[in-house]
Amino acid sequence: MKKISNSPEETLELGKSLGISLGAGDIILLFGDLGAGKTCFTQGICYGLELDKASYIRSPTFTLINEYQGKLPIYHIDLYRIETQEEIFSLGLEEILYNQGVTIIEWAEKLRSPKKPDKLILNIQDRLEINIKITSDSQREFTFNPVFSEPRSFPDFTLL
Ligand SMILES: Nc1ncnc2c1ncn2[C@@H]1O[C@H](COP(=O)(O)OP(=O)(O)O)[C@@H](O)[C@H]1O
Ligand SMILES: [Mg+2]
Repeated sequence: MKKISNSPEETLELGKSLGISLGAGDIILLFGDLGAGKTCFTQGICYGLELDKASYIRSPTFTLINEYQGKLPIYHIDLYRIETQEEIFSLGLEEILYNQGVTIIEWAEKLRSPKKPDKLILNIQDRLEINIKITSDSQREFTFNPVFSEPRSFPDFTLL
């Protein structure tokens, strides 16, 4: 499933539509280069989860993990500065991932198992993978790839 966004505003809207449909325990993995729009899209997801607009969502570049309270707890993680998978293990992310919140991870490339690229570290199984590609200055191509062990109606692509 692919979607095109032609502006940051459209990306926010797309994120918002997804955020509305999220539930407790959902994991969203964002892939894509610097400036692809991962943080912008995350902001949209947060609005969809009813986080008030005054809350400032930015890349948790220095803190690695930001927590917001919308209608569910939202954990926003950015792995950009992570250099080794040992560092990821030391973050204690399992506690967050298997919690009743929504987890959004930027630079999810860093979660790929080195030997089996279709497997992720931290025992992450069910997740929605989203790849964002820069197709021009103002255009982004979103590819949605749900990876679930059992069929689920989430996300409802008709709403995106
Ligand atoms: N269609 C678009 N969607 C999202 N961002 C866009 C788009 N077009 C241009 N941009 C710009 O790209 C940048 C995306 O930044 P950001 O969301 O921080 O990216 P990332 O978190 O992937 O590094 C912003 O400067 C934004 O204004
Ligand atoms: Mg970012």
